[in-house]
Amino acid sequence: MFAISGHKMKFMSAACISRRGVLFNCDCTELFSAIKNSSIDMIFCDPPFNLNKDYGTEVNDSLKDKEYLEWSYSWIDECVRVLKPGGSLFVYNIPKWCISFGAYLDQYLEFRHWIAVCMKNTFPRGRKLYPAHYGLLYYAKGEPKTFHKLRNPIPVCRHCGGEIKDYGGHRKKLNPKGLNLTDFWDDTSPVRHRKFKKRSANELKPIIPERAILMSTNPEDVILDPFGGGGSTYVAAELNGRYWVGSEIGDCTPVIERLSENGCLVSGEVGKPIRDIFEQYEYMPDEKVVNERYASVAVQKSLDALVGCGS
Ligand SMILES: C[S@@+](CC[C@H](N)C(=O)[O-])C[C@H]1O[C@@H](n2cnc3c(N)ncnc32)[C@H](O)[C@@H]1O
Repeated sequence: MFAISGHKMKFMSAACISRRGVLFNCDCTELFSAIKNSSIDMIFCDPPFNLNKDYGTEVNDSLKDKEYLEWSYSWIDECVRVLKPGGSLFVYNIPKWCISFGAYLDQYLEFRHWIAVCMKNTFPRGRKLYPAHYGLLYYAKGEPKTFHKLRNPIPVCRHCGGEIKDYGGHRKKLNPKGLNLTDFWDDTSPVRHRKFKKRSANELKPIIPERAILMSTNPEDVILDPFGGGGSTYVAAELNGRYWVGSEIGDCTPVIERLSENGCLVSGEVGKPIRDIFEQYEYMPDEKVVNERYASVAVQKSLDALVGCGS
């Protein structure tokens, strides 16, 4: 079992270890306080939006606006601190909070994009417009060290398979690999059907963190997601050959189940790129292995005793 400790935090054991990542069942503040300055390549944050949702007893999702912003600025400060020069930060939230987060982040990082992530089937909001998008803020710590242009397949009709647009007569000029990804994502509606969800509250479609990861990191880079939820970022990182570290203050079972379903869970050593981000860490023997070892020692002792009796 991998565990970390630091002068500001108590000793913490990992909730699970995968081939390329480690999750801690703790407040993200604790995890941050164990991470070295300038050690993370990319951070993806999908915090509670302060919309009075139920994330369990550990989370109050109906703070006063000022309190919510103060809390948010405290983890944003930590993101800025632990990000490597040229590293990228993505923060997903409703436009109301993205405006304040952007103004705050402008002091420390370089603005890259406000990506509009479209929502389908939203609800009327009294004397307001229908909210049809969330914001995904994309910032970099100085000049981004990695930026990959992504492409989307040319859209086709899901009924007849024919292409939806005619591209004004310039179809032949399109890159066969697809259309350039823009800052308007309308193919990313939330995971709504129970069957496909790992948990009840707000789980992102993995394509959202996956695009952020593919755009701004290379294989072997280290990604941090402080608000684990159902583990969309961790699975996307794992399946794309990136290392990851995360925290989840509530139930970690959905993440563990999801990693397990994808064949990613291990009970062994945490990768060196992960160990390198911590000030202090240590290995505790895995409980199951220890128990098995104790059991075999006990059997051996009984056998020895029997043999001793017989001679
Ligand atoms: C919106 S959800 C994240 C969903 C995730 N991106 C996914 O796709 O599955 C926010 C998560 O942050 C967790 N959380 C809230 N406050 C936290 C804190 N201080 N430290 C760690 N996790 C926290 C909540 O329990 C919740 O699971």
